[in-house]
Amino acid sequence: MAKNKNVNYKGPYGYQKMKEREPRACIRFKCALTNTILDVLRQRPGWVEVKEEGEWDFYWCDVRWLQENFDHTYMDEHVRISHFRNHYELTRKNYVVKNLKRFRKQLERDAGKLEAMKCDFFPKTFEMPSEYHLFVEEFRKNPGITWIMKPDGVRLDDQKDEIPVENYVAQRYIENPYLIGGRKFDLRVYVLVMSYIPLKAWLYRDGFARFSNTRFTLNTIDDHYVHLTNVAVQKTAPDYDPEKGCKWMIQQFRLYLTAKHGAEAVEILFAEMDNIFIKSLQSVQKVIISDKHCFELYGYDILIDQDLKPWLLEVNASPSLTASSQEDYELKTHLLEDTLNIVDMEGRLTGKEKRVGGFDLMWNDGPVSREDGNLDTPMNGFVANTHLGYNNDRKKQLKQLFKPFQTQQKV
Ligand SMILES: Nc1ncnc2c1ncn2[C@@H]1O[C@H](COP(=O)(O)OP(=O)(O)O)[C@@H](O)[C@H]1O
Ligand SMILES: [Mg+2]
Repeated sequence: MAKNKNVNYKGPYGYQKMKEREPRACIRFKCALTNTILDVLRQRPGWVEVKEEGEWDFYWCDVRWLQENFDHTYMDEHVRISHFRNHYELTRKNYVVKNLKRFRKQLERDAGKLEAMKCDFFPKTFEMPSEYHLFVEEFRKNPGITWIMKPDGVRLDDQKDEIPVENYVAQRYIENPYLIGGRKFDLRVYVLVMSYIPLKAWLYRDGFARFSNTRFTLNTIDDHYVHLTNVAVQKTAPDYDPEKGCKWMIQQFRLYLTAKHGAEAVEILFAEMDNIFIKSLQSVQKVIISDKHCFELYGYDILIDQDLKPWLLEVNASPSLTASSQEDYELKTHLLEDTLNIVDMEGRLTGKEKRVGGFDLMWNDGPVSREDGNLDTPMNGFVANTHLGYNNDRKKQLKQLFKPFQTQQKV
């Protein structure tokens, strides 16, 4: 990385001094994926695509590019890329559990047991083979418990089968998932991190529940279609219908739960989910290299049990951006447009915004007060400041937000 800005480095701009460059007439982007993100980038006014060796201002890269190139690519001040260098501290199943355990200990020391217990949202997990003996000990102590073995590598949601798997984690299987219509589901929620130090994170209003195609039962423990609700697995089921897609928007899910359990129970559940997002990010805050060129859009996988307790299953650094239906396409393109609105290559934001389109600022070096200026009262000890599952009137909000900019441009 650059040590001296006045020296010429070969980077996305080639041999050129940052300060001498003409103001940018357009934003030059590169994109390693060929799904909705490429559509969104191509349609963005003022953005132009560059091919292979061209100089770029913005790169939606994949994690492989990052591993191979990040350390020897100089980037000018304004350049942005779509991953943090060591995102795997959060997105590998074995690392996230290690980081959460350490953070829990630190919280217990600094803030007491009650605060530390707020980290108990990850099912008990052992890294294999390194923690095999601990696992066997636990297995013997509690023989009735079911465990799920999961590959721990960094894998792309969109390319699940293509990357060879090396290690596994053994994780306590949640045997009592909340069921709707007899079916198991998990939630996909999107969190955008713009910086780790200080921690600045946004939560997207939309997300979805992904249902299993098949009714839940513990009798057929080896049937993937019953127990694994991720789309990568469900879409291979013989009766899978991509248009129905086995998905519910999170708004529909929130309404359903409210009708069944009342508003308070649902508020608590959503406050607990907020707690998961914040605590998991805080647990890696000091280990992730907080490079100002980097941002990352994470896909959280959350499972809810019959006591309405949310569990964190994993955090994806490359959540699937492939659309399975028209509704899914719209969700993803809007999500990505708003991600780019926050990355703000165009320089339209003041930095004080609490909401940009479908994203609400969830954490800004501390809890964020709601638009009315008040922090919410805690629900069961958890504070929710965000609007996950609220009405996503993003178009209206964006119009308001960028109004001054549009007027300026017309002048
Ligand atoms: N501990 C668990 N208890 C119950 N179900 C689980 C558990 N872990 C994973 N699953 C199911 O398996 C699916 C895939 O697991 P996940 O951890 O998201 O790994 P990946 O998506 O990398 O395969 C989840 O969507 C969920 O339905
Ligand atoms: Mg998953």
